[in-house]
Amino acid sequence: MNYQNIISKNHNSTSIITVNRPNKLNALNKDTIQELHDAFDTANKDKNIKVIIVTGGGDKAFVAGADISEFAHFNAEEGKLLAANGQQLLFDFVENLSTPVIAAINGFALGGGLELAMACHFRVASDNAKMGLPEVSLGVIPGYGGTQRLPQLIGKGRAMELIMTAGMIDANQALSYGLVNHVASQEDLLPLCEKLAIKISRNSPVAIAAAIKSINANYKDGVDGYNVEINAFGNAFGTKDFKEGTSAFLEKRKADFSGE
Ligand code: COA
Repeated sequence: MNYQNIISKNHNSTSIITVNRPNKLNALNKDTIQELHDAFDTANKDKNIKVIIVTGGGDKAFVAGADISEFAHFNAEEGKLLAANGQQLLFDFVENLSTPVIAAINGFALGGGLELAMACHFRVASDNAKMGLPEVSLGVIPGYGGTQRLPQLIGKGRAMELIMTAGMIDANQALSYGLVNHVASQEDLLPLCEKLAIKISRNSPVAIAAAIKSINANYKDGVDGYNVEINAFGNAFGTKDFKEGTSAFLEKRKADFSGE
């Protein structure tokens, strides 16, 4: 696919996907969501890619939300479809990828931008980052999973306050809330994410995929996460990576995982 709104580049075993509409603070329009879906899907299917990092183009924004100009005239049915399609194509899709996804939040992460970051497996922010779900100030609510994932990450009371006030928190407050795992200077943000990616890529991709699935099961209604874990644990014993990991330990050498 030829991308107009994003840049997708591979660096060693990491895919770096950049939302690239800096003049619109990287707001997510329909085409951008479709391109992101394609780029995430392609990276996830590439056996050489061990980690995906998503960030924003320019030095001001990660993503400043869904593109308001695109939905301002929508009716109720169109609004429902916008949320359903977006969740399916991008937000749920990212959360359930088997390849780890890190959000490198390099500026404003508002509305759909914070929702995208929250759909990633974890988040790192630069010290100028600002985060919030300001939808109620537009007369709407978060529609890309924000009302579900924000309370999961920071607790119900804080999520209620942030959503009701339509306020923004800075990177350090996000760190103290557990919304982001680390804060770095703007120039250190991507190097830190890449360092984390290298650490992750030394481990078994099949085991990591199983761990993502098991952790996510904790947040799925009607799914017994403990049971998902038991099955995934058992399945791991049938993988080449398990044989390699345990043999390498006993032979006092570094494991070389094939991802099978
Ligand atoms: N949708 C569409 N366009 C957006 C946008 C969004 N979510 N966020 C920013 N933009 C556009 C602006 O319209 C402006 O375009 P223009 O130059 O053609 O007028 C451009 O990006 C720059 O934004 P601007 O508002 O001038 O920057 P700022 O530094 O003054 O303010 C923000 C930055 C992030 C505070 C402000 O852009 C903002 O509040 N954005 C909307 C955030 C939001 O409500 N997101 C949730 C959407 S559901």
